[in-house]
Amino acid sequence: MIPFAFQTTRHVVVEPGASGRIGTLVAELGARHVFLVTDRGIEAAGLLEPALNGLRAAGIAVTLHTDVVADPPEALVLKAVEAARAAGADAVVSVGGGSSMDVAKLVALLVPGRQQLADIYGVGLARGPRLPLVLAPTTAGTGSEVTPISIVTTGAGEKKGVVAPVLIPDVAVLDADLTLGLPAPVTAATGVDAMVHAIEAFTSKRLKNPVSDCLAREALRLLAGNIAEACRNGSNRDARQAMLLGSMLAGMAFANAPVAAVHALAYPVGARFHVPHGLSNALVLPAVLRFNMTAAEALYAELAGIVVPEAGGSEAARAAALVDRLGRLGGELGLPVRLAEVGITAADVPALAEDAMKQTRLLINNPREVTLADATRIYGESL
Ligand SMILES: NC(=O)c1ccc[n+]([C@@H]2O[C@H](COP(=O)([O-])OP(=O)(O)OC[C@H]3O[C@@H](n4cnc5c(N)ncnc54)[C@H](O)[C@@H]3O)[C@@H](O)[C@H]2O)c1
Ligand SMILES: [Fe+2]
Repeated sequence: MIPFAFQTTRHVVVEPGASGRIGTLVAELGARHVFLVTDRGIEAAGLLEPALNGLRAAGIAVTLHTDVVADPPEALVLKAVEAARAAGADAVVSVGGGSSMDVAKLVALLVPGRQQLADIYGVGLARGPRLPLVLAPTTAGTGSEVTPISIVTTGAGEKKGVVAPVLIPDVAVLDADLTLGLPAPVTAATGVDAMVHAIEAFTSKRLKNPVSDCLAREALRLLAGNIAEACRNGSNRDARQAMLLGSMLAGMAFANAPVAAVHALAYPVGARFHVPHGLSNALVLPAVLRFNMTAAEALYAELAGIVVPEAGGSEAARAAALVDRLGRLGGELGLPVRLAEVGITAADVPALAEDAMKQTRLLINNPREVTLADATRIYGESL
């Protein structure tokens, strides 16, 4: 067996209504003053109430920070750090999507730390200490509540990651009630993101291991089995809780067996055209899967047993059935299926392909090497 290491969030609470217990969970970590990071949409939807009530009941002071926007820019992160410092917060909580959770993670790191954000992009550069960190996702989703990753949009639209074990949160709170009102298009896009995390972890070239494989398989089973129902009937609490569990398990998998070309090609789409992260993934997924087929056929055939169990025949036939099924998924969920539908034209492809090649942190994990010509062709096929 290939030697491996595995790290994840050490405390997870999975229960509808669990965000009401954040106050107790934070108190157990010794905190007295929480910096609560979220966005205005979450606040307006009333999703903070259980957490705020629980924090109040536990006698914990709260500074509420609702300034997060999707694909958070660097300047927004730095402002949040200043606000948390000025407030004297001693713990960070987020109730929100990946954007809010990623900002919360960097606030927890940068408030007590001596490093500058600009110096820690990349893998393994960030060091502690950091403030206690409790995350409750409102999308299912990024899995950020269990990953060592925070994604920031820098300069003129490049997405960079800070990746280091110190960013793995202390507690993940998976409360299906937070996701009951998530609109169908966001449910679909974020759910596809989670499925891509499971698939890319399972086919990751470098750090795939027996634990990440178990998690990726179970994640894909939960996500593939519940995504259509969660989109169709958003108030189905069981489907919502299954989606949250699936996205967390996928997060645990890809935190250790990192994602690859789908994400590398999706990031430039998100950064340059402000296409939501999950949708960016969904748009390039079919062409990347077809491209990877020659290198990942056996693994795709194994995943076909979970996603299209009715598919039979040779390994190649089962792998093709998986690729075909996933290629149709976005359209079936009502998502745009062509890059052209989000305003991208052939003239944009060279710049997108060049940006994708900068995502070396991700491309090294792809089962098949991706050249600039390959990236250009994949975007072209996705137009
Ligand atoms: N840290 C990681 O491991 C990791 C992994 C993948 C992606 N990401 C990053 O996460 C970000 C994307 O996060 P996301 O897809 O969760 O979306 P998001 O946090 O950007 O939120 C998208 C929109 O959905 C709304 N929303 C969220 N939850 C809601 C709810 N329950 N009800 C109603 N509206 C709700 C938000 O207000 C926002 O307008 C990107 O920046 C991406 O790069 C991080
Ligand atoms: Fe993702």
